[in-house]
Amino acid sequence: MKVFQTSHSLVEYLSDEIRPFGMVPTMGTLHPGHLSLIERAVKENQTVLISIFINPTQFDNKMDLNSYPINIDEDLRIIKKISKNVLVYVPKVDDIYGRKVESKSFELGGLDEVMEGEKRPGHFQGVVTVIAHFLKTFYPDNAYFGEKDFQQLLIIDHITRSMKIKTRIIGCPIIRESNGLAMSSRNSLLNSNERKLASKLFETLQFAKSNAKKMTYRTLKNMVGGFFENHNELTLDYFRIADPKTLKEIHLERPVDQGHGFIAAYLGKIRLIDNLDMS
Ligand code: PAF
Repeated sequence: MKVFQTSHSLVEYLSDEIRPFGMVPTMGTLHPGHLSLIERAVKENQTVLISIFINPTQFDNKMDLNSYPINIDEDLRIIKKISKNVLVYVPKVDDIYGRKVESKSFELGGLDEVMEGEKRPGHFQGVVTVIAHFLKTFYPDNAYFGEKDFQQLLIIDHITRSMKIKTRIIGCPIIRESNGLAMSSRNSLLNSNERKLASKLFETLQFAKSNAKKMTYRTLKNMVGGFFENHNELTLDYFRIADPKTLKEIHLERPVDQGHGFIAAYLGKIRLIDNLDMS
C-alpha cells in the first residue's frame, strides 16, 4: 500500500501500465459500504486509488464540517487488510484548492434543484468541484460511488458525460446494517438507541414500497408525514418518489407503479438520508 499526500507525487507515480485504473473517492471513516466499493474496484482494475479527503466546499454548514468524523489511521489499517497493492491519496486542503477554498460553478442539468440540492445549497457544486478535479488529474478508467447518495451519483454521472470525461461512473448497492439502516460514516456519531431510531427511514421506504400501488402518491405522502409527526426524536426533512433519471416528482393523484423513493430526516443534529427503488 502506498500513501500519497500530494497529487504531484501521485501523478508522477502513475503510468499507462497501471490500467485499468479504478478510483474510489471517500471522505474516510470507512464502513462496510466503502469496503464493498473498494473490493469491487480491486476485482475490476489492475490498480486502485482510494482518496480520503473531507471536502470543505461540500458542507453548507460549518458545524457539520467540524463534527465530521476523522479516523485516518484506522482507515489505512482497514484498507491494508483488503489489499496491500492499492494506492491511497490523503491530501491536505491546499493540495486541491490552493489558497482559494471555493467551489467552481458547474451546470448540473437541474438535478441539484431538489432534495439534497435544495436543502443544502452549494453542496453539489462542492462535490462536483472535487470529483471533476480528481477525474481530470488522475484519469481513472472507472470510479466507484455508493447508491446511498443516489442524487450525488446521478449528478457525477451527468457532469462526467457533459464534460466528456472518459471515466466510467459505477454505482454500487447500499450496504445496510441488520436493522436496515443504510451504512454511513455519520452513523459513527449515533449511539445504539439512535441507530434503532434511524432504521425508521428504511422502514418508511419499505412501507412506501409495499403500499405504493394501493393508494395515490398524495395519500402515501400524507401517511409518511403522519408517522414522523408521532416521533419526537426524528424530524422528517423530505419524502419524495421521483423518476430515477430526472428526479422529477411523480404525479400526486396517481398510485406509484414506478419510481424511486427518497427520504431525509434529522435525528437531533445528525442528518440521515436513504433511498429505495419502488418498482
Ligand atoms: O460521498 C462522499 O463521500 C463524498 O461526497 C465524495 C464523493 C467523496 C466527494 O467528496
